[in-house]
Amino acid sequence: METEKKMTAEQMTDRDLSEQIKKVTKDSHVRAENTKMMLSFQRGQVTLPQYKLLLCSLYEIYQALEEALDRNSNHPAVAPIYFPAELARLQSIEKDLEFFYGPDWREKLVVPAATERYCHRLRQIGKENPEFLLAHAYTRYLGDLSGGQVLGRIAQKSMGLKSDEGLTFFAFPGVSSPNLFKQLYRSRMNSVELTEEEMNGVLEEAVRAFEFNIQVFDDLEKMLSVPENKQQRSSGSKSVQDRTLQIPAGISPLLRMVLGLFVALITVTMGIYVL
Ligand code: HEM
Repeated sequence: METEKKMTAEQMTDRDLSEQIKKVTKDSHVRAENTKMMLSFQRGQVTLPQYKLLLCSLYEIYQALEEALDRNSNHPAVAPIYFPAELARLQSIEKDLEFFYGPDWREKLVVPAATERYCHRLRQIGKENPEFLLAHAYTRYLGDLSGGQVLGRIAQKSMGLKSDEGLTFFAFPGVSSPNLFKQLYRSRMNSVELTEEEMNGVLEEAVRAFEFNIQVFDDLEKMLSVPENKQQRSSGSKSVQDRTLQIPAGISPLLRMVLGLFVALITVTMGIYVL
């Protein structure tokens, strides 16, 4: 919070990363806002199953993002935008998951394939191109500090929650003014020295980051067309593709083979349906 107060208003130029990143992701932002899931939020129609499923994916995403940021906290492209005390979301999401799913929430996590792909990318760049974390941290954290603030209030009403319980994800107690903090964040982004090639890489990665988010929302919507009790039957955090039907033991080999073929057929059909 101290840093927010000390910040001086800096003049941004068109060549600054913060300006360029906003420009190149403008269309992607419109597409993200217009996904079925985000429209449900904006129209005050977000349902509990929708929100619970979204939280599961956010947990995986922030775990991957924040692990990568922590691991690279001294990297010259990460250090200036490393604000764990103000921005870290993982613990808030854990609290919300416990509120909605109970103490054994970890066993109930359901994660679509698009979320797995997003997390895989985050882990990969954490190891290979830490400067691209600038793009991912920007996309998630500045989004959470912008539209996310309104969405939290709408979600509370839509789901009929009496208090802020279950909505810790949207609260940033370490940020007294989201607007001031965003200004500070942008100036920190602009202070990172990048070659032209790195700058282009970061801009491309930002568009990719939005694309990952859009795919996650779309995948979650597809999963929601599968009844919730079926989604929660899995144990541990599994992707939809990991879930298969089991043939009971103790039946004759021939019957087992016939059943095996039948089960394989159903599994493939289910796979096509949820994807
Ligand atoms: C219902 C959906 C959404 C709404 C209504 C919304 C709304 C907004 C608004 C009003 C701003 C501008 C705030 C300002 O200029 O101070 C903003 C900024 C931003 N949003 Fe969203 N947003 C939505 C979804 C998303 C999603 C899904 C993402 C990314 C995953 C995202 C990422 C961002 C980012 C990175 C910014 C900062 C832009 C900048 O100043 O450079 N938003 N959003």
